[in-house]
Amino acid sequence: MTNLSTQYAGLKLNNPIIAASSGVTDSIESIKSLSEAGIGAIVLKSIFEEEILMEMEQLTQQMTGQPYVYPETMDYMNEEPTVDLIRAYINLIIEAKKVSKVPIIASVNCISNQKWTYIASEIEKAGADAIELNLFSLPSDLNKPAGEIEQMYLELVDTVCKQVKIPVTLKISPYFTSLGQMLKKFSKLPIKGIVLFNRFYSPDIDINTQELTTSFVLSSHSEIALPLRWAAILSGSIDIDIAASTGIHNGKDAIKLLLAGACVVQIASILYTNGEKVIDEMKNSISDWMKENEYSSIKDFKGKLSLKGHENTASWERVQFMREFRNFIK
Ligand SMILES: Cc1cc2nc3c(=O)[nH]c(=O)nc-3n(C[C@H](O)[C@H](O)[C@H](O)COP(=O)(O)O)c2cc1C
Repeated sequence: MTNLSTQYAGLKLNNPIIAASSGVTDSIESIKSLSEAGIGAIVLKSIFEEEILMEMEQLTQQMTGQPYVYPETMDYMNEEPTVDLIRAYINLIIEAKKVSKVPIIASVNCISNQKWTYIASEIEKAGADAIELNLFSLPSDLNKPAGEIEQMYLELVDTVCKQVKIPVTLKISPYFTSLGQMLKKFSKLPIKGIVLFNRFYSPDIDINTQELTTSFVLSSHSEIALPLRWAAILSGSIDIDIAASTGIHNGKDAIKLLLAGACVVQIASILYTNGEKVIDEMKNSISDWMKENEYSSIKDFKGKLSLKGHENTASWERVQFMREFRNFIK
């Protein structure tokens, strides 16, 4: 009898498959449906800091005639979630908790440590089981030193952690000057989980119309390589649960990530393309593999092939092809 239950960021999950934050997790109907389909947990679509600040500015302008968000206006806002967007998000959490049998993780997409962070306590009051901070501002200001951006991230996460008692997890990109160092710094903060990695919207160019277009919205399977490597390098070195995200499209992928040391996997693209039936397919695939290999629970094999868990794992750290490149035949 195989047991797929696991723990992530202090939450008890029936299985290690989480619906990642996306359009699939932004309505009560789809949240209910994902829960009924047997998902392990659901990360709600993010509320975006830029949108919140934009609405705050509009509200401030109406109240004061000034576009600037004055601290005293923020004090007023602290008392009640006055901004429509926040109110709608709080309602989404409240309703999601009513229809879902599995943990609901709220998600905030943040790009700065501005005073919006009080929203974290509103999210907690609404009953979310955890908060995922989706952290990224594209460092397109070429004059901004990396250290400045990194310090701002650390302060932001620390501020949010101090405001709530529910677990805070962090979803990051792989684009840091020194990813390993940054992850070590994050791991000293009181976060309970880290999501490796976010995948960003990428603009493309239509050469016929010579205009910018949206492209590459969904991941391709080969993108699993990045979270696979970093889950393996990190697990065992930091005392924080790892959720793997990007390119995980089937049960075999999930097994690989668990072997590398992730506690759970997050899926988005495959829910868009294959629908909820993929949840059962993935769970069955993991169960069948566990039976074949005589594992009765996830912890029996989690991290077995991590950098620390196995003696022959130098490949995780190898970045050049060396011999493989020479021997590679088309
Ligand atoms: C249409 C779409 C919308 C998304 N919206 C969000 C979002 O609001 N917040 C977030 O943290 N990630 C968002 N993501 C990223 C996913 O949560 C996930 O990290 C990414 O798609 C990689 O996983 P995948 O390979 O399973 O798609 C979105 C992804 C897609 C495809």
